[in-house]
Amino acid sequence: MAVKLNHTIVHARDKGQSASFFAEVFGLARPRPFGPFLDVVVANEVTLAFLETHEEIQIQHYAFLVSEADFDDIFGRVKARGLDHWADPAHRRKGEINHNDGGRGVYFNDPAGHYLEIITRPYGGA
Ligand SMILES: [Fe+2]
Repeated sequence: MAVKLNHTIVHARDKGQSASFFAEVFGLARPRPFGPFLDVVVANEVTLAFLETHEEIQIQHYAFLVSEADFDDIFGRVKARGLDHWADPAHRRKGEINHNDGGRGVYFNDPAGHYLEIITRPYGGA
């Protein structure tokens, strides 16, 4: 079996704002329109399809494994934008990062309020 996540929908209040935020902060190619979506593709070919909704947004959690160098770049852009960030998913350790599994990790929010996370080691190490 080779089941690969191919795409998922990310709800947004303003899809242009959310998709551009994601692409810019993560250093990815510009969002591309696809039907009602604005698509951003990450390195393992998963498409995040930003979709605007005026319904209540259910906050989701999206975590990304990045290299140490990419962590510096992405986290640098988070700080340059003056975004709040936390070392933990419960948002108790504000302004900190974690060193779980021998790497680095940090949480911040996208414009719709989704919890984004970057880590340099997968949970559990390896
Ligand atoms: Fe997580």
